[in-house]
Amino acid sequence: MTLITDERKAEGTMAPDRSDTLLDVADVGIRFETKRRSVQALEHVDLTVQRGEFISIVGPSGCGKSTLLRAVAGLTLPTSGRIELRGSEVTAPRKDVGFVFQRPALLPWRDVRRNIMLQAEMRGIDKRAANARCDELLELTSLTDFAKALPHELSGGMQQRVSLCRALLHDPDVLLMDEPFGALDALTREHLNVELQRVWAQTNKTILLVTHSVPEAVYLASRVVVMGPRPGRIIEEFDIDLPHEREYEPTLEDQRFHAVAGRVRELLGSPMGGD
Ligand SMILES: Nc1ncnc2c1ncn2[C@@H]1O[C@H](COP(=O)(O)OP(=O)(O)O)[C@@H](O)[C@H]1O
Ligand SMILES: [Mg+2]
Repeated sequence: MTLITDERKAEGTMAPDRSDTLLDVADVGIRFETKRRSVQALEHVDLTVQRGEFISIVGPSGCGKSTLLRAVAGLTLPTSGRIELRGSEVTAPRKDVGFVFQRPALLPWRDVRRNIMLQAEMRGIDKRAANARCDELLELTSLTDFAKALPHELSGGMQQRVSLCRALLHDPDVLLMDEPFGALDALTREHLNVELQRVWAQTNKTILLVTHSVPEAVYLASRVVVMGPRPGRIIEEFDIDLPHEREYEPTLEDQRFHAVAGRVRELLGSPMGGD
């Protein structure tokens, strides 16, 4: 694992490879105007993401993490600056992203398969192809035996895995996850971390994950992005030079893991890093 400071980047010793840029957030600011007040949620946010990266985003509550993800998905438009995804400016909701929220938001009357297939129905994807892909995703997330189960028959962790399948059904280039495991107990969260790491290693998706958990952020990411308090901006980035496929316990026991996690916690201004 290496810690790359902005200084070293500036010296050009670790110049990032910009050849396969998937996402480019350039000097983005987002201001919300409501009747009563005006909030500058993001200011001067710059983030370039290469295809296949796993970016963990951490930062204090209210610093604009969700706003940033929504902007990448085209659900909120920047008031200044520019976001490009796959070379085209994001100006409207994008079809080439998948979104997983903190709550699984499954339809209670639909079984697992039909909840996942909702994505195909909404996007007008060919049903036969979507069903085949649904089978693959159920297999990938160990849900094959639960295809016909209703949401209330599943644990919270399983429901969130269904939500992950739904977000991946249309094979999006980028997967956006906004505190997806925040409502789960610690052990379930650990299992899903291992599962998500496997999904990333096997599918080569580009993932942006917002999390409050520093260990989760460092364990999963190829790069951890730390945001500062409002108006939200990126205050530090850490490249995590661990193997693509990594095991859970050995990684968490690794001295270098602790070094990065410690630095991130320091930046967040609390010994426990908000976790
Ligand atoms: N639709 C909105 N209208 C007005 N203010 C908003 C809206 N969405 C977010 N905000 C404000 O923008 C700031 C950043 O919010 P958010 O992105 O949800 O932060 P985080 O996800 O980091 O907790 C907050 O002050 C929040 O109140
Ligand atoms: Mg949020």
